[in-house]
Amino acid sequence: MQIRQLFDPESSTFSYLVWDNSTREAALIDPVQSQVHRDIQLIRELRLILKYTLETHVHADHVTGSGVLRQKLNSIVVVHEDSQTKCADVQIKGGDFIPLGTKRINVINTPGHTNSDISYLVNGAVFTGDSLLIRGCGRTDFQSGNASLLYQSVRQQLFTLPGDTLVYPGHDYKGRCCSTIAEEMAHNPRLGLDKSLDDFVDIMSNLKLAPPKHIHEALPSNLRCGVSGKDTAITRL
Ligand SMILES: [Fe+2]
Repeated sequence: MQIRQLFDPESSTFSYLVWDNSTREAALIDPVQSQVHRDIQLIRELRLILKYTLETHVHADHVTGSGVLRQKLNSIVVVHEDSQTKCADVQIKGGDFIPLGTKRINVINTPGHTNSDISYLVNGAVFTGDSLLIRGCGRTDFQSGNASLLYQSVRQQLFTLPGDTLVYPGHDYKGRCCSTIAEEMAHNPRLGLDKSLDDFVDIMSNLKLAPPKHIHEALPSNLRCGVSGKDTAITRL
């Protein structure tokens, strides 16, 4: 499986293009609508077939490119079954897997940043959305976030992966691009092994962050896959 990391500087969001070399089937994790032209150009240059767009959660800081990519490339919009995203084609949950060419993408439930976060595990790499960031994690103070739940998700679902598993996060604000499970267990200042649940809840309840700039447009728009138009029938994978 091949991986390309893509970055949106406005929202500091990472998207990831993953594909199976033998069949050229690809999935784009967390596409950003304002970067859709860049992404389509890359997909065409690499002669890939975009089979899916995969969301790690309903984003509050940018509008998804999933609906536009579906219109232009006929890709299948995949979201968590609890995300209320009525426009999606396929709903998934933890324990499912998504076939991609001769490979598979495993779905891991990692709620806590929101009530419906998922991480995707592919060949020794995990795409963690905002559940686990490099030396940090997503906030837990809106979208039904829950610090205790996020602690459990990271400790039980992510920190139980092999230590050399590459961690590809949903954002970074300090120029870093990748980490490993072992590195985060040792050095994450919020969720590292030296932090208790009480420590974590205390840290998260004292962050005093301003709301994301675009939350009021991004949330409703993302529940429509970033486009207007009628709902698509939902199927299970
Ligand atoms: Fe988020």
